[in-house]
Amino acid sequence: MSTEKVQIFDTTLRDGEQVPGCKLNTQQKLIIAERLDQLGVDVIEAGFPISSPGDFTSVAEISRIVKNATVCGLTRSVKKDIDVAAEALKGAKYPRIHTGIGTSDSHIKYKFRSTREQIIERAVEAVKYAKTYVEDVEFYAEDAGRTDNEFLARVCEAVVAAGATVLNIPDTTGYCLPEEYGAKIKYLKENVKGIEKAILSCHCHNDLGLATANSIAGVINGARQIECTINGLGERAGNTSLEEVVMIMRQHPTLNLDTGINSKLLYSTSRLVSESMAMPVQPNKAIVGANAFAHSSGIHQDGVIKNRETYEIIDPADVGVTESAIVLTARSGRAALAYRAKNVGYELTKLQLDKVYQQFLVYADNKKEVHDDDIHLIIQESNIGIKATA
Ligand code: KIV
Ligand code: ZN
Repeated sequence: MSTEKVQIFDTTLRDGEQVPGCKLNTQQKLIIAERLDQLGVDVIEAGFPISSPGDFTSVAEISRIVKNATVCGLTRSVKKDIDVAAEALKGAKYPRIHTGIGTSDSHIKYKFRSTREQIIERAVEAVKYAKTYVEDVEFYAEDAGRTDNEFLARVCEAVVAAGATVLNIPDTTGYCLPEEYGAKIKYLKENVKGIEKAILSCHCHNDLGLATANSIAGVINGARQIECTINGLGERAGNTSLEEVVMIMRQHPTLNLDTGINSKLLYSTSRLVSESMAMPVQPNKAIVGANAFAHSSGIHQDGVIKNRETYEIIDPADVGVTESAIVLTARSGRAALAYRAKNVGYELTKLQLDKVYQQFLVYADNKKEVHDDDIHLIIQESNIGIKATA
């Protein structure tokens, strides 16, 4: 079975930037957009042009500099939004308008005070209007996660007939279970007339910590685009994390799914976004967290030093991390100490190591972590008469 491509739609600059405190200026957005293009994302959602003059300018500038990716602007199903997005995207090599409307009963009743029939009409009208500007029109059915599947299929069928090229099925509130979300995608694949003319897209939020699992369930069931952000940033608990879905597909070749992402740029891109937004990455974050390739317990360190794969399923170099970290703490063993001592210039015999190790334990009990400078000190204080080689 040949591997099928899953498109990566990055929304760090739109859904990610909606996070309180994560606001970026245009210059910062341009740097990130350029990096996303190098990373190999297929689509960059550059912003919501009607939301502010600053966002309009950012989308317009990003459109001018991005060389490979499609540049996308968000709109509501409102003509003025679509006019403004089309204007902002004018300079893009590959422009996409992302328009949509809430489809769950709760959105229809409380947000729009409308009816299902009127919502379908507005959706179709918006897609047809966007098509007068660009060929590539993505439609989002907001709160699709809580939308009844039969009605969702009717909406999808109508917007595909109106020319939508991508159908975004957002789990806006992060409510779905992976089986449920996967079944929703499967249902749409099997029940929407004309579905072969459009790509189904997963846009999952992380309110229950299921965004990544739901997106993977989506692509297993036939979606061919994932909407995600660097470091999983996004409204509330965030969006699907780009680095996670990319590496899941890469580490599981039996899925027969892959992306065009250059994974070696993942770590540096994560740092760039984190520093630009002043939003630290949690140390235990999968793939890009500071501890993702750090080993501190004696048993694990011994295993990794003997063979990295004992406790690592990803080669750190594949995501741009230079090497696994052997962190020295009071839980570390002799193998880790010998390894780190060798890195700073000491080739210890077994006898010397025994002595240094006793000194190390006393030292480590009083410190969270033992660093290279401490190793020099511990070895001197152990009186074993050895000097570091250069
Ligand atoms: O979560 C969501 O439903 C969205 C849409 C606007 C695509 O972000
Ligand atoms: Zn969202």
